Amino acid sequence: MAALSKESAYHARTADAEGWVDYSETENQTWAHLFARQKELIENRASDEFLQGLEILKLPADRVAQVPEVNRALFAATQWQLQPVAAVIPFAEFFELLAQRKFPAATFIRRPEDIDYLQEPDIFHEIYGHCPMLTNPVFADFVQAYGKLGLAATPKERVYLARLFWFSVEFGLINTPRGLRTYGAGVLSSTSECTYALEDPRVERRPWDVMTVLRTPYRIDIMQPIYYVIDSYEQLFKAMDSQVMKQIHTAMEIGLFAPTYTAPQPATVVAPIKHDC
Ligand SMILES: [Fe+2]
Repeated sequence: MAALSKESAYHARTADAEGWVDYSETENQTWAHLFARQKELIENRASDEFLQGLEILKLPADRVAQVPEVNRALFAATQWQLQPVAAVIPFAEFFELLAQRKFPAATFIRRPEDIDYLQEPDIFHEIYGHCPMLTNPVFADFVQAYGKLGLAATPKERVYLARLFWFSVEFGLINTPRGLRTYGAGVLSSTSECTYALEDPRVERRPWDVMTVLRTPYRIDIMQPIYYVIDSYEQLFKAMDSQVMKQIHTAMEIGLFAPTYTAPQPATVVAPIKHDC
């Protein structure tokens, strides 16, 4: 997988004794701008479970959401919590946290000049993009089970496991009675990818199949050319059993599909990967 540079203009923010960060007026305005921009956009694009999660979390519209307040609602719903970390953490720490029902979250927010694109995940992506789905019991159990698998995996196996996370937690689509929707944090925290993923005719939308996902290469810095569509979150949870490691070994033997991206597309999304090899 592509690894992000550990050199970044952004750094983890220091919290006070209660876990609150003193965000500036500009930073709070950035959150408010992003929050308002996504609100109308996601109405007929986000999955019902994501929208229900937003109602449960009751995120502030006018300032950066703070980890302690999000954690109270998240823990009450599914016993998950956010764990503040630097933007990029080692794979081992990433899986360890997920296995403990702790979602690693960067606490900085993008600068105004980076409003539409940032290579690292910021707190808007982490909280607005990820936390609503973590209030859903089945999805919450799926992410923990994924973390446990990753914890026991070798570095090479983890690279394959990363594709399951990428094409579900970050960029997943779901069939619903009201049509195609998204539950992916990378899609739902991005203005341009939200419409692109669901409506652009150039996009390939494939039915979720573990072996196919495992063999699909991706780039973190482009609009995704391929998305995978599930029928239910149970489908994801059920895939997290011992069979998946066997499937990874088979995928290693067969090899990856040829990339469908031939040239860089405009980078207009927040790259949501937060683990480094
Ligand atoms: Fe993410």
